[in-house]
Amino acid sequence: MKNTILCTNPLIETRLAIMRDKSSSVAAFRRALNECGALMSSTIVSDFPTQEKTIETPLETTSARILARPVTVVAILRAALGFVEGLTAYLPEARIGHLGFFRNEETLQPVSYYQKLPPGMAQDMVIIADPMLATGGSMNLAIDVLKKSGCADNLVLASVIAAPEGIAAVRERHGDIPIYTAAIDRGLNEKGYILPGLGDAGDRQYGT
Ligand code: PRP
Ligand code: URA
Repeated sequence: MKNTILCTNPLIETRLAIMRDKSSSVAAFRRALNECGALMSSTIVSDFPTQEKTIETPLETTSARILARPVTVVAILRAALGFVEGLTAYLPEARIGHLGFFRNEETLQPVSYYQKLPPGMAQDMVIIADPMLATGGSMNLAIDVLKKSGCADNLVLASVIAAPEGIAAVRERHGDIPIYTAAIDRGLNEKGYILPGLGDAGDRQYGT
């Protein structure tokens, strides 16, 4: 799948196994989701623009490469909260926006109930984070909102588990925005849950 990047290594796979396991506790799930975000973050920023910076070491002058643009991470509530904590572990200066969406259980369409975004995001590199990319409805709505806020080619998407249907839906509506994910699962069931998946990411994380 073009521009869909699988972030995988044994450390990420181990966290995925914990999240998928229905016998994992809320604490274990939360920790695994957080750590998965931190482990994925270096791959997610690997194509972000960098710039040279002159540094004085104790011995001489040298140059270093640093990120050229600030980073904003946008969390789709609620499930992205723990994921974003991990994603920003090595991006301590990142600004964090929040979009509150829940899926209507019958239509599976996202319903928006909250929006708070940092100003001037068009200047930043923006990571939209949602651990579950199922039908793609929530992600597509988030991209719509961010495009209206001036974002264009500065967007990347981060999920933990993506369904092929969700990837296709994002591709159809928003072209080739890079999608970083730790797993691409088999598909969706009739209720829009990812199979094999991990269940409801919000409920697993918060014990609801
Ligand atoms: C879940 C999940 C995503 C969305 C993905 O949210 O956190 O935001 O579903 O599904 P989609 O790709 O079909 O849109 P949910 O509605 O369970 O809300 P919650 O995170 O507040 O529990
Ligand atoms: N949202 C979830 O939390 N899990 C799924 O499998 C699909 C959507």
